[in-house]
Amino acid sequence: MKVGFLQFSPLWGRKDDNVERAIRSIRGAKADLLVLPELFSTGYLFENGEELKRSAEIIPEGPTFLRLADLAAEEKVNLVFGMAERDGESVYNSSVLVTPEGDFWVYRKLHLFDREKLWFTPGDKELEVIDIGRTRVGMMLCFDWIFPEVARILTLKGAQIICHPSNLVLAYCQSAMITRCLENGVFAITANRTGREERGGVKLTFTGKSQVVAPRGEILSQANETDEGVWTVDLDPDLAL
Ligand code: ACM
Repeated sequence: MKVGFLQFSPLWGRKDDNVERAIRSIRGAKADLLVLPELFSTGYLFENGEELKRSAEIIPEGPTFLRLADLAAEEKVNLVFGMAERDGESVYNSSVLVTPEGDFWVYRKLHLFDREKLWFTPGDKELEVIDIGRTRVGMMLCFDWIFPEVARILTLKGAQIICHPSNLVLAYCQSAMITRCLENGVFAITANRTGREERGGVKLTFTGKSQVVAPRGEILSQANETDEGVWTVDLDPDLAL
């Protein structure tokens, strides 16, 4: 099956533009499974909870989910993407899997990173593994990488491919994901973003280098720190151990 990732630099607060750019990049990729970055539609650095709440959307009613669900159906691709999810008074840093048939699952980030703890509610759902027909996938988000238990639990639940939307700012994750794949015998797709954000006196540079890693630790595909676009690679998910 053909899997891959979108790496790009979302512009903070420009939701329509970011979603439109992602859709344009993905059209014609002819993949079975594509992973987008964490918070791909909003950008990353919020200044306060109110600002975040205004950007967040209800799933499945919100426009970001609906546009990506339409894209999944039109392009016959399973999409995994990170977005700010509103549920009542809470906002979660969530990852969504939507299939071409419109079925969807939501994972709410368990391990919030740094200032995310000021804005988001920690995840309140079990880690899940979803059978999408050709393979079984699990979702985790960015900083979850530093806790080996997350990838382990997904593996023990039967995941063959771990989908990992990210907004990485530390340098270690891409190497650590090789270990996660080796120790668990799974594939992982880390979809990172590029670019910089500066808001509220905080400056962040995102590290790019999105990648697809195989169960033996081989990097099957990798972008550089700044490239934008869609990368795909053919793999056999049954090679997961
Ligand atoms: C991160 O979890 N966005 C570093």
